[in-house]
Amino acid sequence: IKTPNVITCRAAVGYGAGEALVIEEVEVSPPQPMEIRIKVVFTSLCRSDITAWSQAPIFPRIFGHEASGIVESVGEGVTEFEEGDHVLTLFTGECMTCRHCTSGKSNMCQVLGLERKGVMHSDQKTRFSIKGKPIYHYCAVSSFSEYTVVHSGCALKVSSLAPLDKICLLSCGVSAGLGAAWKVANITEGSTVVIFGLGTVGLSVAQGAKQRGASRIIGVDINSEKIEKARAFGITEFVNPHDCNEPVQQVIKQMTDGGADYSFECIGDTGMVTTALQSCCDGWGLTVTLGVPKVNPEISSHYALFLSGRTLRGSLFGGWRPKSDLHSLVDMYMRKEIQIDEFITHNLPFEDINKAFDLMIEGKCLRCVIHM
Ligand code: APR
Ligand code: ZN
Repeated sequence: IKTPNVITCRAAVGYGAGEALVIEEVEVSPPQPMEIRIKVVFTSLCRSDITAWSQAPIFPRIFGHEASGIVESVGEGVTEFEEGDHVLTLFTGECMTCRHCTSGKSNMCQVLGLERKGVMHSDQKTRFSIKGKPIYHYCAVSSFSEYTVVHSGCALKVSSLAPLDKICLLSCGVSAGLGAAWKVANITEGSTVVIFGLGTVGLSVAQGAKQRGASRIIGVDINSEKIEKARAFGITEFVNPHDCNEPVQQVIKQMTDGGADYSFECIGDTGMVTTALQSCCDGWGLTVTLGVPKVNPEISSHYALFLSGRTLRGSLFGGWRPKSDLHSLVDMYMRKEIQIDEFITHNLPFEDINKAFDLMIEGKCLRCVIHM
């Protein structure tokens, strides 16, 4: 067994909120016990990267959390992976032993759950540096780097036959949407669905709803260009709130005889959570939130919405247990049972990573896949 050394490679470093990333030479330390070092091959840009980059107080930092790669080396104690394994990164891990992981009904791992401080779970330190100065992580993944170190519980081994340039989207957005439709809402045949926000996350919900046989899938977006791609994923009707004379929830209620069976918030705007609640019906209406809010994380809704029988459910990563469940989505893609390719509107070389940010901010892309 060879002892891994420090690797020097290129990474896109964020130095301040909203400032263009700078491609720098960074040092990536060897994987520590139970960690693996990955050669990132493809990473896509997700809205949450932009949300964090535009507001995060933690800098300098390497963003990126939707990625695929190849294991370069493994740390002490790792038996699950070996050099050359193909992997997806997991921004929320699964330790398999904590209360949540053993419950069988939660993906909120208490050990490897969403990391918010920009460090590794195990020792609260970073594995990146420039001339000895630490560079912080994002969600313990940091895929905007040619090499990264992750906990072995934050990666999933996948078949080497699965195309890494496509399945990287399963690392976050596409899986989150499908899981919200199937696992969290458990949409039933013939039901009415309304989806707020028609990015990759919202359109993945649509894809999941269509597969479940939803009779109507109403898409709501302030960007009318989104309708072009939306039909292919199952959206049957489109509403642009800017074109409505009444609040959008009133329009949806009229369209659906009192509200949809299910509504989904896929924007990342807490104000829209209430709108989504108001758009589903009394009695059994279910609202699922997937968005990661930019500002004002508190929500405020009238109690009567709940008194009349609605439910609001939150979900992270579509409720999937990342290690236990995600294989099935890779397999479904390989059997052509789910669409991924259609979400990829742009492919860009790593040097152009800031262009991917611009495209998403301008609302001109679904997913940009960045080739490292
Ligand atoms: N009303 C309706 N649609 C809106 C509104 C609004 N007020 N504001 C934004 N949108 C639309 C945008 O036009 C865009 O099409 O929401 C969509 C969001 O899509 P993307 O920006 O592509 O984001 P996506 O990657 O799909 O993520 C959506 O889920 O995981 C979270 O952090 C992520 O909060 C984000 C959300
Ligand atoms: Zn756990």
